[in-house]
Amino acid sequence: MSTAHRPRRVLITGGGGFIGSHLSELLLDRGDTVTIVDDFSTGRRANVGIVRDGAGRAERYRVIEGTVSTVLPGLSPLDYDCVYHLAAAVGVRMVVERPIHTIETNVHETSVVLRFCAERALPVLIASTSEVYGKGVRVPMREDDDVVYGSTGFSRWCYACSKAIDEYLALAYHREFGLPAVIVRFFNTVGPRQIGEHGMVLPRFVEAALDGRALEVHGDGRQSRCFCDVRDVVKVLPRLVETEACHGRVFNVGREEPISIRELADLVNATLGGAGGVRMVPYAEAFSAGFDDLLVRQPDLSRIREAVGFAPAIPLAQTIRDLAEEIRGRRALDAAHGAPG
Ligand SMILES: NC(=O)c1ccc[n+]([C@@H]2O[C@H](COP(=O)([O-])OP(=O)(O)OC[C@H]3O[C@@H](n4cnc5c(N)ncnc54)[C@H](O)[C@@H]3O)[C@@H](O)[C@H]2O)c1
Repeated sequence: MSTAHRPRRVLITGGGGFIGSHLSELLLDRGDTVTIVDDFSTGRRANVGIVRDGAGRAERYRVIEGTVSTVLPGLSPLDYDCVYHLAAAVGVRMVVERPIHTIETNVHETSVVLRFCAERALPVLIASTSEVYGKGVRVPMREDDDVVYGSTGFSRWCYACSKAIDEYLALAYHREFGLPAVIVRFFNTVGPRQIGEHGMVLPRFVEAALDGRALEVHGDGRQSRCFCDVRDVVKVLPRLVETEACHGRVFNVGREEPISIRELADLVNATLGGAGGVRMVPYAEAFSAGFDDLLVRQPDLSRIREAVGFAPAIPLAQTIRDLAEEIRGRRALDAAHGAPG
């Protein structure tokens, strides 16, 4: 039986970012045409260079620089077969320090994307987050679980709530207009090209280990997370958006094996020979008083396994090594160009 791929014309918002650049590579390499829209607020232009330099990709890869809400009105939905909406304000630090930007970006830009797609019922994947589970009423987390958020006095929860609004909006477009929208709740996604400056834990740890500095663990380090390699994650996204039975549904995407943040720090030091040890930093010092973190965040993957199959394969130690190698290369390039990342 032939399984030849029918090339698609794909639009990726946030395609210059961490997940978006890996997704771009995957789609270009299977023959699709990829247009990315990115304002490079947290994405890196260097990612575009890496994607473009892959064999045979450049002529099917278009980069439009700008915010989603300014660029999309100038594009026609007729020119695309499907959309991946990954652009968002991300990162714990960004969310706590810039709540207005976080809320406005996440809600407004998603609304613009959904309107664009609704014009011709374009299949669209909306990137959501495990943060939507809020304080987590049970573990492992299932897509239909109830959610409990902290008080609005703590801006930390605005990321979760803004992404929850995105989900409501996408599901409403599906119900009211038949929009083929699928929502993915990414759990901690890690790998090469992720940057630590917005508070992402693994690149922060790897950068510190490479420098021989202490790895700063927030809180008591007993909080656990499930880390999945980005190269495993992006493989499942086209299957979700291209499967009709997935439209109008929410899916957890991640890995099921938890590791505490303290254990993660030790694993990073052991894998990379980091000699700086670990420094415990109270949440109040790392963020602000009253910062609320979840003890466990672990996905139940039954739904995605049943719908399209999903078996992440890359071990965490491998991800750590690959991220370290990529950071070394990034630093060497930045040094050669005399500029910071
Ligand atoms: N990485 C994770 O572990 C994780 C976990 C949960 C959810 N997510 C979600 O996945 C998506 C991608 O995240 P990522 O980790 O690749 O982060 P990222 O910061 O690398 O990617 C986001 C991209 O969107 C761009 N962007 C932001 N606002 C924009 C705007 N208004 N217009 C155009 N471009 C804009 C940024 O420049 C960046 O390139 C986000 O929606 C995020 O909320 C990621």
